Amino acid sequence: MSTYRVLVTVASRHGSTRELAAALARGLTGNPAATGLDVIASVVPVEQHPDPLRYDAVVLGSAVYGGCWLPAAREYATATASALRSRPLWLFSSGPIGSPPFPDAEPYDVATMTALLAPRGSRVLPGRLEPALLGFAERAVVTAMRAPVGDARDWAGLRAWADEIASSLTPARTSAGSPPSGLRS
Ligand SMILES: Cc1cc2nc3c(=O)[nH]c(=O)nc-3n(C[C@H](O)[C@H](O)[C@H](O)COP(=O)(O)O)c2cc1C
Repeated sequence: MSTYRVLVTVASRHGSTRELAAALARGLTGNPAATGLDVIASVVPVEQHPDPLRYDAVVLGSAVYGGCWLPAAREYATATASALRSRPLWLFSSGPIGSPPFPDAEPYDVATMTALLAPRGSRVLPGRLEPALLGFAERAVVTAMRAPVGDARDWAGLRAWADEIASSLTPARTSAGSPPSGLRS
């Protein structure tokens, strides 16, 4: 079994997207659907500017506010676009609450990020809107929009997505982050 490193890197304002990233990483790590691979997934905030080239595959996600990804996620995507394009890549946007999902429009950045990064897949995942965690201005926006509140995150769906990603992984041509050949024992 060869080790296969997956970076799960996200931007989150109030923590719920970070928790989605952690659950996705748990679902990917050791996933038996990744034939012949020992998958190790790590969660790193985009603010820490993780280097995609140190990993074999990447999942990049952001919470959505006002229809857009958080600026830190957009900046990271732009700054590391060529490295991200060189890896198997999946994107996710976390935001809509309720049934039917509100808002129902696709976040504006999905099309831009898809064009920029050519991911293998892109998902919009239900999020969490917890009024007690919001600032005054955010609460005012949510009230004005009559947005539904609560925790709509779909843990079973996330686990299924982890299985889907894992099943599509194939051994990398060169192992990410491995030392130069002269240093190998
Ligand atoms: C002021 C405000 C604006 C929001 N705008 C959107 C939006 O345009 N689209 C969307 O899908 N979700 C929107 N949301 C919902 C958040 O994306 C959702 O609560 C998300 O799970 C928050 O992630 P975080 O906890 O990682 O910051 C908004 C939430 C707030 C408070």
